[in-house]
Amino acid sequence: MTSFRRKRNFTILTIVSLGLFGPFILPSIINLGARIRQTHPFSYQWTVQQDFVSTKDELDCLYGRLPPSTASSDVEIEPIPNHVHFIYGLSNPYVKPGAGTFDFLCYLAVRSAIVGMKADKVSLHYTYLADPPAPEPNTSPLSNPWIYRLKDDVTLEYHSPEEMAALKSSPGATWQAAHISDILRLKLLQEQGGIYLDMDAYGLRPFTDLLKSPRGMIMGHEGGDRGGLCNAIMVARQNSTFIDRWFGEYNNVDLSKEWNYHSVRVPKQIQLAHADEVCALPPSSFFWPTWTWHHVEWMHQPLSADEARHWAVEMEKNGGSLYGEQLAYHAWSQMAWDRYLKKLTPEVVRTRDTRFNLMVRGFLQDDLGRRDLSEDKSCDGLSTSCRLVE
Ligand SMILES: *[C@@H]1O[C@H](CO)[C@@H](O)[C@H](O)[C@H]1NC(C)=O
Repeated sequence: MTSFRRKRNFTILTIVSLGLFGPFILPSIINLGARIRQTHPFSYQWTVQQDFVSTKDELDCLYGRLPPSTASSDVEIEPIPNHVHFIYGLSNPYVKPGAGTFDFLCYLAVRSAIVGMKADKVSLHYTYLADPPAPEPNTSPLSNPWIYRLKDDVTLEYHSPEEMAALKSSPGATWQAAHISDILRLKLLQEQGGIYLDMDAYGLRPFTDLLKSPRGMIMGHEGGDRGGLCNAIMVARQNSTFIDRWFGEYNNVDLSKEWNYHSVRVPKQIQLAHADEVCALPPSSFFWPTWTWHHVEWMHQPLSADEARHWAVEMEKNGGSLYGEQLAYHAWSQMAWDRYLKKLTPEVVRTRDTRFNLMVRGFLQDDLGRRDLSEDKSCDGLSTSCRLVE
């Protein structure tokens, strides 16, 4: 009898405490689970974040030291345009509620192209951008306060749902918006040339040497094991033969059966077979630190005052990058969103020292995230009430 009561009391106590503390404990349990899954001794992540030594060809590509290509040595080749392309909002937010809105982090990426890369032109290719979301394509992109802020420096380029559907190489398949975006970026680079950046990629300084490359395509290795060439950041000349070959690999494939084979592994295979058509940059240039648990943590952990000073000096020395071979940083939002990125606001970026915040702080416009200016809290960037005051 007493034992039964004790058991019952225990059960009630457990249920009550779970109800009370569950909302606080649950995220840490999920976080702990993810940490263990990602960092155990046999995790693939150790392979990805392994040390590497940049090769001569990689460095020649990075520093613009390649000899002119033999085919065109008598013709002066045009540099690739310093025109940066972003793609956002291809899914209808009413069909896919998780599609997200163009937010502060997207704003920072576009600012990185303007301030960090000194782009001659920045294009944002979109189908849906309204905020709050609207089911009709091309509804008022300027209703989004971040887009409104960027409007004078960005060319908005609308693509209709029909045009996007026509990009599928297997018309019946249900593709993710990410797959359509994979193809659209290749098409844009093929037609116009320039630089493509994912919405969570940050260009830290001008890509001057890359734009003069004699090769038609410049990509970056992903991972210390050089397991792939990632399509989140690419530089290409109009009509590159490398992209032709890549398009060829999309013929009749059903991408609903894969995630990133065609965006990361396929370009690596083409590079191995046609090394003279592409520059493959060191793992450090575009995609380092990597997406692993420890690397993402390294970018976002709080720095001591001494560490912050150290990194500020390094970045000053490297024109905005953390180290000499780095030109851009990909923030791996799939891995970093819940742990870190979603917590960032203009004020956090401006006032808390992490490697990531130091790196992007200079991209903030002056009025954003300053305590003294944000007496009126609603003016802290995101608020619709501020945006309506023109
Ligand atoms: C690329 O191809 C298009 C269409 O075939 C052509 O009009 C354009 O002149 C080409 N551009 C270059 C730089 O070769």
